[in-house]
Amino acid sequence: MSKFIFVRKTAVLAATAALAIGGVAGCAKEDTGGTTESGVPLVKAGALTTCTHLPYAPFQSKDQSGKVVGFDVALIDLVAAKLNVPQEIVDTPFEGIKSGADLNSGKCDVAAAGMTITDERKKVLDFSEPYFDATQALAVVAGSPVKTLEDLAGKRLGVQGGTTGEEYINAQVKEKGLKIEVVSYKDLAAEQQALSTNQVAAAVNDLPVWNEYIKANPGKVEVAAGFDTGEQYGFAVKKGNAELLKTVNEAIAAARADGTYDKIYATWIGEKPAS
Ligand code: ARG
Repeated sequence: MSKFIFVRKTAVLAATAALAIGGVAGCAKEDTGGTTESGVPLVKAGALTTCTHLPYAPFQSKDQSGKVVGFDVALIDLVAAKLNVPQEIVDTPFEGIKSGADLNSGKCDVAAAGMTITDERKKVLDFSEPYFDATQALAVVAGSPVKTLEDLAGKRLGVQGGTTGEEYINAQVKEKGLKIEVVSYKDLAAEQQALSTNQVAAAVNDLPVWNEYIKANPGKVEVAAGFDTGEQYGFAVKKGNAELLKTVNEAIAAARADGTYDKIYATWIGEKPAS
């Protein structure tokens, strides 16, 4: 591994020199990358760089010490271990993750963000095998009379920008001609804050994040309804990065086979649904 660190330092020096004599900044980025012993290319030598969008507990969020932890983090740690490098996490808006922009620009090697595999996203990202099943859910403050989307006529409904939950709600509003004011929040924390302070009458997001919120804030919020959207999460790599994708899939498969997946599931999600 020291070999690769040496390579990187040399590249940085070269890039600095180039800048000093007139600025060939465009070349600098590629030169800071590396390759693992097993031949997997990395955007930054000596680490597996992961893009995510915080917070999205229980998949990724900061613990009390500020460290990013969660179900996705634990699974990608297995990929990093296979590559013999540590995982480094970059927090960045979901839009750039799902559009492929962050992977394409070399911001990260892999995206792990509780991200649903969709046909549209498959055009711009290469997804791993599915690693988690999810549905959408409608959350309300405890004791609210709102039970269905129809009950939200004339009211405000929170969604998270750029997510499948937002897409699902916009489609339902259109299809059923619902008179709901859909309010889009930039991240889960803002959406949950809006719900708990009654700025919206209800909020839609993936069921496991509501379950986690209810665990952390007992008695405040409840799930009023579920929508079986049949979603599956996948990790994503830049289109064409077959080497890394293979490693990700092997890590997931090995974790499923040896019980590690179940342990991570029990730690972050809870009891596993019968399958
Ligand atoms: N599963 C949903 C989607 O793919 C929401 C993901 C949001 N994830 C995040 N880390 N902010 O659209």
